[in-house]
Amino acid sequence: MCGIVGYLGPRSATGVLLDELSRLEYRGYDSAGLAVLDRGRLRVVKTVGKVRALAALVERDPLDVHLGIGHTRWATHGRPSTPNAHPHVSTAGDLAVVHNGIIENHAELRARLTAGGAVFVSETDTEVIAHLLAAKLAGPAAGDVGRALLLAAAELRGAFAVAVVAEAAPDCLYVVRQQSPLVIGLGEGETFIASDIPAVLPYTRSVIVLEDGDVACVRAGSVMLSNLAGESVERPARHIDWDIHAAEKGGYEHFMLKEIEEIPAAVAQTLRGRIDPAGQVVAAELGLSDERLRAVRRLSIVACGTSYYAAMVGKAVIEKLARLPVEVDLASEFRYRSPILSDDQMVIAVSQSGETADTLAALREAKRRGVLTLGVVNVIGSSLSREADANWPTWAGPEICVASTKAYVTQLVALYLLALHLARLNGALDDAGVAEVTTALSTVPALLEQILAEREQIADMGRRYAHWEHFFYLGRGLDAASSLECALKLKEISYKRAEAYAAGELKHGPLALMTPEVLVFGLATQRELVDKTLSNLQEVAARGARVIGVVRAGDNVVTGQVDEVIRVPDADDLLMPFLTVVPAYLFTYYLSAALGREIDQPRNLAKSVTVE
Ligand code: F6R
Repeated sequence: MCGIVGYLGPRSATGVLLDELSRLEYRGYDSAGLAVLDRGRLRVVKTVGKVRALAALVERDPLDVHLGIGHTRWATHGRPSTPNAHPHVSTAGDLAVVHNGIIENHAELRARLTAGGAVFVSETDTEVIAHLLAAKLAGPAAGDVGRALLLAAAELRGAFAVAVVAEAAPDCLYVVRQQSPLVIGLGEGETFIASDIPAVLPYTRSVIVLEDGDVACVRAGSVMLSNLAGESVERPARHIDWDIHAAEKGGYEHFMLKEIEEIPAAVAQTLRGRIDPAGQVVAAELGLSDERLRAVRRLSIVACGTSYYAAMVGKAVIEKLARLPVEVDLASEFRYRSPILSDDQMVIAVSQSGETADTLAALREAKRRGVLTLGVVNVIGSSLSREADANWPTWAGPEICVASTKAYVTQLVALYLLALHLARLNGALDDAGVAEVTTALSTVPALLEQILAEREQIADMGRRYAHWEHFFYLGRGLDAASSLECALKLKEISYKRAEAYAAGELKHGPLALMTPEVLVFGLATQRELVDKTLSNLQEVAARGARVIGVVRAGDNVVTGQVDEVIRVPDADDLLMPFLTVVPAYLFTYYLSAALGREIDQPRNLAKSVTVE
């Protein structure tokens, strides 16, 4: 997500802040800024673009300052622009905040604060924090910035890590952490703040990792910690002994594993603020009226690679829940096949980067033909998100590994929520039907944590099968759609031959390939189809192939029918695409690591495919 930094001490604060920000560059961002106290007065510098653009602005007007905060932004609420870049300031311009996370109740706070005289200059959710703090400072907190932060935090809903600099507190910075990471680096007579450890490592290896609900008053060389009730808490400083390169990956050897581990949080983030207390989908951010969406009677999804496979799952789910026909096209084929498009259609472009040339071209073709377009994109401010008529973003955060993992899973979340919204609008589901599925979706992060906690069995399988050459993923229904993504991931990272087939297709050709050299993953999680899939697996076992069954926990039907079993948590059939893909990602990762592959940058591949 975004990056937060802070510094207090004898060095040049702008120098340290810019250096800290540049150490967060690997995370990707679209704008950057900093706020410092210059002889007691707040000064803010911010710009769209890279840290070097910010550095150029600072160089033009150097500041001799020793306390400040900084930020790199990854747009969520509001496009990348200078007004939307952090820090955000109060109307009086006497305090500034930087923030990571999402403030769910920003709309109601904004309305209230505006009525109270606050002047908003950005489209961000973050700006409400600056105005809320100012209101508390002028009111009940009576000039005490720490108290104002506690009062403000009590009114914020969502995830946030916030750092505050205020003229009213000229020798300290305040921070609060709620579900968004924040660390404090302790130096000799100086203190560093960052959302990620690598930013502070060149300066100190002594780091306090804040926990949810921690608030800190940070001075040069000292830190006072409390909880949200203002009661003092203690957090031990840890000694960090990773090198910087490893620290960027949070101690992981590869971004791929780090990003797989981030999947539960990415799912939670993509759900956040989109389900109301009654379990209904909140779709205001689409900016499309109910009438406009009710007029949509057909959907077409265009995408490439992994995003295309997310679309395949999305098709099955939208058709099942919303009872609307969905076509899925490879974006590279769409415009060349003269697609039949109509006024009652919506074209959805799914893309992690939002810059994939074929997907953009498909979107433009749909727009040229006058059809409503919707972007399901992870990078706000990307070409696709700017050009689509409406957006329904995924909030996976920056994905560094070339192979997509967490972005794929959040694409599923976005498409499921869209399916539910459309289902409610056209009457295919009633409120109770929608609430049943949203309740199930809310359990996905915890179910995925369970899979990750039990990964050793899969890691062991990955290592044991590292020298096999031929792999198949088979399944029916949603399992068939998931198989496609499982096989793609194995191909691109391990360079092994991996195929995916709907299990019912076996007899129509691929059965000829089944020999004892083949490892088959049989995804058999769909209740109505499990028997049929299992009998297909017996057919491949009879040809000598080795079979690993992927089944729900508690399903003992496979004992004796397959060679090994991976059990995923028992849950609704609809949730299985989430629960089968993560074991497949882990299998790919550990198998490829055992082979010493270039996991984060597989040969011949690029993260953003901006040419046809
Ligand atoms: C595979 C992978 C690619 C991308 C594809 C589309 O792991 O990442 O197949 O999914 O290049 O990219 P986006 O989603 O950025 O449009």
